[in-house]
Amino acid sequence: MARKKIAVIGGGNVGQTCAHVAAVKNLGDVVITDIVEGMPQGKALDLMECRSFSGIDVDIMGTTKYDDIAGSDLVIVTAGMARKPGMTREDLLDANIKIVKPVAEAIKKFAPNSIVLVVSNPLDSMVYLTASVTGFPKNRVIGSAGVLDSARFACFIAMELKVSPRDVQTLVLGGHGDDMVPLVRRTQVNGVPVENLIPKDRLAAMVDRTRKAGGEIVALLKTGSAYFSPGSATVTMAEAILNDQRRVMPCSVWCEKEYGVGGYFMGVPAVLGATGVQKVVEIDLNAEEKAAFQKSLDSVKKTVQEMKGKGF
Ligand code: LAC
Repeated sequence: MARKKIAVIGGGNVGQTCAHVAAVKNLGDVVITDIVEGMPQGKALDLMECRSFSGIDVDIMGTTKYDDIAGSDLVIVTAGMARKPGMTREDLLDANIKIVKPVAEAIKKFAPNSIVLVVSNPLDSMVYLTASVTGFPKNRVIGSAGVLDSARFACFIAMELKVSPRDVQTLVLGGHGDDMVPLVRRTQVNGVPVENLIPKDRLAAMVDRTRKAGGEIVALLKTGSAYFSPGSATVTMAEAILNDQRRVMPCSVWCEKEYGVGGYFMGVPAVLGATGVQKVVEIDLNAEEKAAFQKSLDSVKKTVQEMKGKGF
């Protein structure tokens, strides 16, 4: 069986983490693409040189030429500006439209059969832009957000209970913004509802921390945003697709009737497999959860409309 090919567009912190984790998992040969001459080549060579002690069999190459992504099965878009302290993800809209649009044009031209995972912010709008520019079927364009947001919520619960985060099951729906919707009612520690384990006020604080978790890291780093967890989350999705695992993961996917979204990319649970999004999974929300989801959807719509107002 021929090796799969994964293109990572943007060789910054998130891109290099995606490349590293994908290589360690031997998901396929990795091509890191960036506009800064020498940087993707240097990072790729560094990764090639760590193969003997990291159990990596695949090849990693770096390039500034988009035609090197030709034949990619999967493309991960991390190109874009990261937030600075005090900025919202939406503040990145203008800068990242200019970066992501030509990236999407290159994907359309050089990797027309690929499945695209978008990580650039503001996430739900950048997925929308990528889908519009490539014209790809909507099941092949997916935003990476809910896996990360759910992992963060699970992390805070695990820290509180002093248990492994692997035994914490959470679900965070909605857009990848500060009004995302962590579902406490759907959160369990190996089958035990979290509400039986942690007092309400502590859980509310963890929900709030999850919503602002990206900003918490930006405030600490001061020069950029998180990358270990966003990169790892994205490779988890890549693995589900490349290995046809059909895992159920929250991610930003095209929704029409589903959840009453009406034609936007929105964070909901979906089955990810060889063809990309194989199904949107609808779960019942109570009145409070519905209201929170609607608020998050309104924010996503507002940013998408702003983007459309600029001609995209
Ligand atoms: C975060 C950015 C990557 O949530 O959106 O950390």
